[in-house]
Order: sequence, then C-alpha cells, then structure tokens
Amino acid sequence: MSVPALDMRTVTALVEDATAAPSMYNAQPWKFRFRRADGTFHLCADLERAIPRADPTTRGLHLGCGAALFNLRVAAAHAGRQPVVDLLPDPADPHLLATVRLAGPASYDTDLAALYPAVHRRHTSRHPFTDEEIPQPIKDALSAAALLEGARLTFPDAWHVQTLLDLVHDAEGHDARDPAASKELRRWTRIGVEAVDAATDGIPDYAFGPRKYGGRAPVRDFADRHAVPGRDAATFENVPQLALLGTAEDRPRDWLRAGQALERVLLRATVDGLATSLTSHALEWPDIRWAVRDPRSAMGFVQIVLRLGYGPSGPRTPRRPVREVLDIE
Ligand SMILES: Cc1cc2nc3c(=O)[nH]c(=O)nc-3n(C[C@H](O)[C@H](O)[C@H](O)COP(=O)(O)O)c2cc1C
Repeated sequence: MSVPALDMRTVTALVEDATAAPSMYNAQPWKFRFRRADGTFHLCADLERAIPRADPTTRGLHLGCGAALFNLRVAAAHAGRQPVVDLLPDPADPHLLATVRLAGPASYDTDLAALYPAVHRRHTSRHPFTDEEIPQPIKDALSAAALLEGARLTFPDAWHVQTLLDLVHDAEGHDARDPAASKELRRWTRIGVEAVDAATDGIPDYAFGPRKYGGRAPVRDFADRHAVPGRDAATFENVPQLALLGTAEDRPRDWLRAGQALERVLLRATVDGLATSLTSHALEWPDIRWAVRDPRSAMGFVQIVLRLGYGPSGPRTPRRPVREVLDIE
C-alpha cells in the first residue's frame, strides 16, 4: 500500500511534539532533519549544547535525545503513522542518533497514541509531593512501560532510598566544592524577568520550585544560593517515592533506549495523574554513580533517578522554535 507523503505542517508539528521532551538543564541538545525524498526524519546530537562538566560522556545528552525520539514516535502514532526507528544507523557518524521513517496508516500503535495527551502536559515538578502512596498497580504499569523499551524501572525499598538520599547529598557536596559546577549551572539558568522572558532554553526561575525548608526529597536547587525575588520556602517529603531506571549495558545505544524508556514512563505517569521530577545529581560523579545501584537488583547501570508522587505538576518551560531545530531537505 502506498504511504501518503507528509505535508510540511505535519512535519513541523511532529518535531514540535518531539521537543517537548525533558533534557538536562533544558539544553535541548537535538537537531532534526526531514528528507522529503524518502519521508525520513534524522535525529542528530547537537554537541554545542552538551554539558561538559556534569555530562562529560554525553550520556545525559543521549537520554534527552532518546526522550525526544520517543515523543516523535508517540506523535507519529497519534497522526496515524507507524514509526520505524533505526538507532545509530551509521557507524561512521555517531552523532546521527536515529532515523525514523513513518510507515503507512494500516498498523499504527494505539498504546503509543494513547500517551499523546501527556506529551505537552508532562512537566518537571520541583514542588513538595504529598505522602499519598502510589498504588502498586500503577508502579507495575510504569515498570512494564520501561521494559517495553528495553530498560528496567525498580522501586528501591526504604533502606535503599535513604542510601540514595545520602549519595545525592554527597554529590551536592562535590558540586559545592567545584567552581566549574556553579559556572555551568549559571550558563543554563534564567533568573529575573528579562532573562526569563528572553529565554528559549535553560531553566527559568519560575520552574525552580520553592526553596527547601525541610524534608529530604532530592530536588536540585537551581538557584544555587542566589536570591530569587518572590520565591517561597516549603517543607518537602521526608520519604520521597523514588524509582531507578537502568539498563544492562552502558553504551550510547543503551542511553538512547533509556531515554525512550524514561519518556514512556514519564508520559504513563502523567496519564495516571502523577507528578514527576528527575535527578541525575548522584550519577554525574563516577565515584558515586556505582553506589546508586541497588546491590540486590539485576540492573546493570542506573541511568536516571525519578521522583514520583502526588502534587503540583510543575510549569511549562521554554523550547526553541521548531525552525531553529529542523532542516527540511
Ligand atoms: C538526563 C536528564 C537529567 C536531568 N537531571 C535533573 C536533575 O538532576 N534535577 C532536576 O531537577 N531536573 C533534572 N532533569 C530535568 C530537566 O531539568 C528538565 O527536563 C528540563 O529543565 C525541562 O523541563 P521540563 O521537564 O519541565 O520540560 C533532567 C533531565 C534529563 C533528561
């Protein structure tokens, strides 16, 4: 059956959906190319948007691009197309992360399409969550979502959560002693009305959430000791509900899988009414990352830590306009 060609409005809308994905520091380290000749999207890493200190291996960059790739798949399914993905298709070009060809409308994936309403509703929430426990069936569905993408999502027990919180605390200590960490943070944060209004990337001050007055939730303070006018203080949960997302191996291909799994979990969680935030803090220091893993789980490499629960969903953060990230050939 012949596949109708995509019109350019649809191409633009699909990329706009893709870029709603989370990325480290909201750096949006992706570039898209659409080739009319064969109706294929190319997703490339934008290394000018890498975060050399916190993410020297570009593992986090791959996670963000994997999340954008997952959104593109969801948006394609919503548009009635079947996305056919080839990860790292050119061994000579490691920056070409994936190609996505949109096959015909006959067999599109309704499970993927069902996640579409969450694509623009998902936001990182750096607010306190309530103590309400996440029901086991919801946790099981989130773990199943990760598994569908070739990753594992586990919910550490109370003992391991306390270990994780100690490790995040250690990472905060490492950062506090590293002037390069503060410099990098400042490069990607936008404080004050003018900076916020002009920003199309980075983390705006209104997304920092309240200053932590008490509690042990691992929510990074992007204000980095700077005063933010009008910012409240709040008590966060003492026993946060955390999940570890990991993969068996730790290569770029696994990072892209983990990014897709991350977004599948986040969208599923959003559909299920959960608020979410992420922390990669303890994973940014190699001497701390190895200890994040639950020694009793078969998970090889932890790729990201999720905090889940019930609370405010977090605000929408800026994205670069599609014309800056999409080339049409
Ligand atoms: C690999 C990766 C690491 C991240 N690490 C953190 C983190 O340590 N702390 C945090 O608050 N948010 C973290 N985030 C979330 C981003 O800051 C967030 O996605 C970005 O600012 C865009 O905002 P949004 O998620 O609301 O769209 C991370 C996201 C990714 C993809």
